[in-house]
Amino acid sequence: MSDSLKKIVQVCKGKSCSARNSDQLYRVLLDAQDKGCVIAEELGRCDCMGACTYSPNVRVDDHIVVSTTPESVISDVERGGTLPLIDHEALDRALENLI
Ligand code: FES
Repeated sequence: MSDSLKKIVQVCKGKSCSARNSDQLYRVLLDAQDKGCVIAEELGRCDCMGACTYSPNVRVDDHIVVSTTPESVISDVERGGTLPLIDHEALDRALENLI
């Protein structure tokens, strides 16, 4: 990994991402980490991020790496996500206040 260490990397474990082998993506990242490659300060799994159309997806800090593959996931994570992560709970609260 480069000098720009990511704080949070989470592989989606939602239904759509799981159906498109997100478990394998997570294993690739864990294997790399076990071999000494520092992926992030915190590497884990997350629930659906609402970007199922582009699955499988990986959260990288406040963005999402979309449509990644086992072959490209490490370099994709290193480059960072392109789709901004949406805080759905905050969005729901904001919408409730409008009603
Ligand atoms: S299941 Fe992964 S973004 Fe929805």
